[in-house]
Amino acid sequence: MPNVNFQGRDIISIEDFTQQEINYILDTSRSMEPIAKNGSDMLKRKILATLFFEPSTRTRLSFEAAMLKLGGNNIGFAEAEIASVKKGENLADTIRTVQNYADIIALRHPLEGAAKLAAEFSNVPIINAGTGAEEHPTQALIDLYTIRKEKGKIDGLKIAVIGDLRYGRTVHSLAYALAKYNVELTLISPETLKMRREVLNIIQTKIPVAEEPNLEKIIPQTDVLYVTRIQKERFPDAAEYAKVKGTYRIDLKTLKNAKKDLTILHPLPRIDEIVPEVDATPQARYFQQAWNGTVVRMALLALVLGATK
Ligand code: CP
Repeated sequence: MPNVNFQGRDIISIEDFTQQEINYILDTSRSMEPIAKNGSDMLKRKILATLFFEPSTRTRLSFEAAMLKLGGNNIGFAEAEIASVKKGENLADTIRTVQNYADIIALRHPLEGAAKLAAEFSNVPIINAGTGAEEHPTQALIDLYTIRKEKGKIDGLKIAVIGDLRYGRTVHSLAYALAKYNVELTLISPETLKMRREVLNIIQTKIPVAEEPNLEKIIPQTDVLYVTRIQKERFPDAAEYAKVKGTYRIDLKTLKNAKKDLTILHPLPRIDEIVPEVDATPQARYFQQAWNGTVVRMALLALVLGATK
């Protein structure tokens, strides 16, 4: 067994994990597949608090489903409006309070650095469930798990990431994660939404990275196409959003020259960047990716709470 220990660990950034640790989480996620169907009492009497200061469908519900499938319970809130932050309570005090009621906290927050700050004030583990435009580490683990499940490997693949690489937190975590493997990465975005320099500076030292505005040019060689939505809510100026809205649209014509075994992923939600007719193609794997969210989050809860080694 590799020398890994997740018990009591915060999950703040994917950069905090080695490839060996990530592989261990992916293996544990695979072992959760039958448990996700049959249930378990592995986390009986354990409580997860989901503190979501921003909207979510997949992350919050799959964390809560994961906890229920492992025999535990959930508390929390899905919007800041109904929590005492509305009365002016700060994040540190919220965390110092909730740690009395829960064994582990999953936090989504609009501010970058919020999960790190929460971990400094918490005596129970904090899981970053998405912080501003910064990172979404558990989504990156789901993305890697899906790639490995679909392709049987991660090393050796040509992966293209398209969309909003500036404000999309999932692509930042995914880029950091992929840079721990032996992959070739192509980044496709409008000029104003190119990958953040601080992410690029790190990943370029580890793997071949190309920036390419034209998807048509690279699609015939691509093994995995990771599509993201343009993050309207993060634009400081509506006019800037209007300029890039609808820039990329994956349709059946786009896939004409694609490999038959191309895997199309999307962290979801989507707006108009993948047209619904693509959903019926064998290449579309984004709803399977959403299912994988449950097993990966089951693995994370079980590992961090020490229910599995
Ligand atoms: N992928 C993802 O983070 O989706 P939600 O915003 O619905 O949680």
